[in-house]
Amino acid sequence: MEQTLVILKPGTVQRGLMGEIISRFEKKGLLIKGMKMMQLTDELLNEHYSHLKERSFFKDLKNSMMSCPVVVMCLEGVDVVNVVRNIVGATNGRAAQPGTIRGDYSVSAMENLVHASDSPETAEIELTRFFKKEEILECNHKLLLNIYAAYEMVV
Ligand code: PPS
Repeated sequence: MEQTLVILKPGTVQRGLMGEIISRFEKKGLLIKGMKMMQLTDELLNEHYSHLKERSFFKDLKNSMMSCPVVVMCLEGVDVVNVVRNIVGATNGRAAQPGTIRGDYSVSAMENLVHASDSPETAEIELTRFFKKEEILECNHKLLLNIYAAYEMVV
């Protein structure tokens, strides 16, 4: 089963949207395998956003991400990277489709409420960056029988 990293950004925490956004992932049928609040640091963000270091908004994005604690989540499911990216919507909230998280609650490219890994390979690297191994918990996959057809689950 695939896993992905989601970060509920400071805007989500400050606007009181944590419950609403977590609830969307839960209602979809995704498993929450790890979740904690943490204060991000410049050092961690330099690594996490290293691919953006030449962009004009790099420093502003890091400052925004450090402006208050965030929630980091490990979500699990079949094709979960794509499923989560579809729930989250396009990067810029102004362009994101209504019905997606960003389409419903954001009008910004930077203050777009959620970070979600963009591929299974990136997800693996990002989960290791934000979680210790023992913080990702096991749970009984039999619970998924009414969420997926048995043949869809490659556990
Ligand atoms: S995505 O969703 O990761 O594919 O989006 P991407 O286009 O790669 O953007 C990566 C992160 O950069 C932020 N971003 C911006 N910040 C400020 N101004 C502008 N114009 C802008 N464009 C993109 C965006 O919030 C993404 O943050 P994360 O945390 O990766 O979602």
